Amino acid sequence: MSVVIVVGAQWGDEGKGRVVDLLAARADVVARYSGGTNAGHTVINDFGTFKLHLVPAGIFHPDCICVVGNGTVVTPGLLVQELEDLQRRGISTANLRISDRAHVILPHHMKQEALEESARGDDRIGTTGNGIGPAYVDKTAREGIRMADLIDPKVFRSRLAAVLEAKNRIFTRVYGAAPLELEPIVAEYSAYAEKLAPYVVETSALVRQAIKDGKRVLLEGAQATMLDLDFGTYPYVTTSHPVSAGACLGVGIGPTAITDVLAVVKAYSTRVGMGPMPTELLDEDGEKLREIGHEYGTTTGRARRCGWFDAVVGRFSTDVNGATRIAITRLDILDSFPVLKICVAYELDGARIETIPTNAAELARCKPIYEELSGWMQSTCEARTFDELPEAARRYVDRIAELLDVPVDLVGVGAARLQAIVRRELP
Ligand code: IMP
Repeated sequence: MSVVIVVGAQWGDEGKGRVVDLLAARADVVARYSGGTNAGHTVINDFGTFKLHLVPAGIFHPDCICVVGNGTVVTPGLLVQELEDLQRRGISTANLRISDRAHVILPHHMKQEALEESARGDDRIGTTGNGIGPAYVDKTAREGIRMADLIDPKVFRSRLAAVLEAKNRIFTRVYGAAPLELEPIVAEYSAYAEKLAPYVVETSALVRQAIKDGKRVLLEGAQATMLDLDFGTYPYVTTSHPVSAGACLGVGIGPTAITDVLAVVKAYSTRVGMGPMPTELLDEDGEKLREIGHEYGTTTGRARRCGWFDAVVGRFSTDVNGATRIAITRLDILDSFPVLKICVAYELDGARIETIPTNAAELARCKPIYEELSGWMQSTCEARTFDELPEAARRYVDRIAELLDVPVDLVGVGAARLQAIVRRELP
């Protein structure tokens, strides 16, 4: 039996989908535990290139049960689209299960987010615009609509009517915006409900049973540690709990079931949206990372901010997630840099610090203190064992493991399934 959490250790887009796709070959269950369509996983495998937003990356493995857990928020129209796209391309979605407890994102969430973001002006969060924040706020405010409600026509209509009335008061009186009409939303979402209903079940019992039966379970995180509502760079964060602790809650299992936590780090740093990023490069190196790495958002198409690897962030992440293993992705993107830098500490107002300040304004004042390593100036894409990597690349990987104090078990050297070096048998 193994229950492994795959968690992003930076600001998202570390390549978790790629790692899950690799590990899912041996998993019986892959369950997504948080977030919604704000996530975008690009998976390249024998079937082609796929951009998944909500469906777990295990969907490409026919024997794997894929769960969209109770901790997620579901955008019905986009999920239907994603499923139909997979089916059209020959991928069966029969093994998908959607939690009846997952909350539904509705048009009023998208509208509310757009109004709030524009009202924030320069202080905007830079959200993905998917309505994620307002949906989680409504969940906490006990005004949410869950998948179980969506697929019950009577309940859906009456819950939506009540919620929409309250939302429309805010739209019209606070923002001077137009109200939303009930009937078109009921019609559109009832059609989605019909298509999704066959997949909706009480998924937590299913995951617990799989664990009791000694199965291999992968818990797939979305977003990442530095975007966590509690531990990220608040308020420039998402509204769920991407950290490993969020996995238990997000699928409905106890912490004693977890056997491993695999933290995924990219070989350099990226961030989308606003908020501090100490190693951000606004120079040619940043541009080079973005272009070689095609660092543009899967969900929004926005150019990602790029920078050197930040080991202060990395160490904080491995600590807060209780990571037992690290996967480094996209090492090959660094192949043509003669000199590489790793941030080992910050300078804050003249003092050296090795931890992340809680306050975003203080983090924004932090200047990275770098250690320089020589690059390897040759392709790593063909390496399939650690020894086949150039010596400088091995040194780079080993230095990250040392600074983060957790072994690096997997190194990604390309987007394809095969382009990975497994150093220690993965769970
Ligand atoms: P939200 O999750 O759409 O509310 O956006 C909140 C913040 O999280 C913004 O800075 C987004 O750019 C960021 N964010 C959300 N999802 C992802 C992701 O999958 N990758 C990277 N950044 C993300």
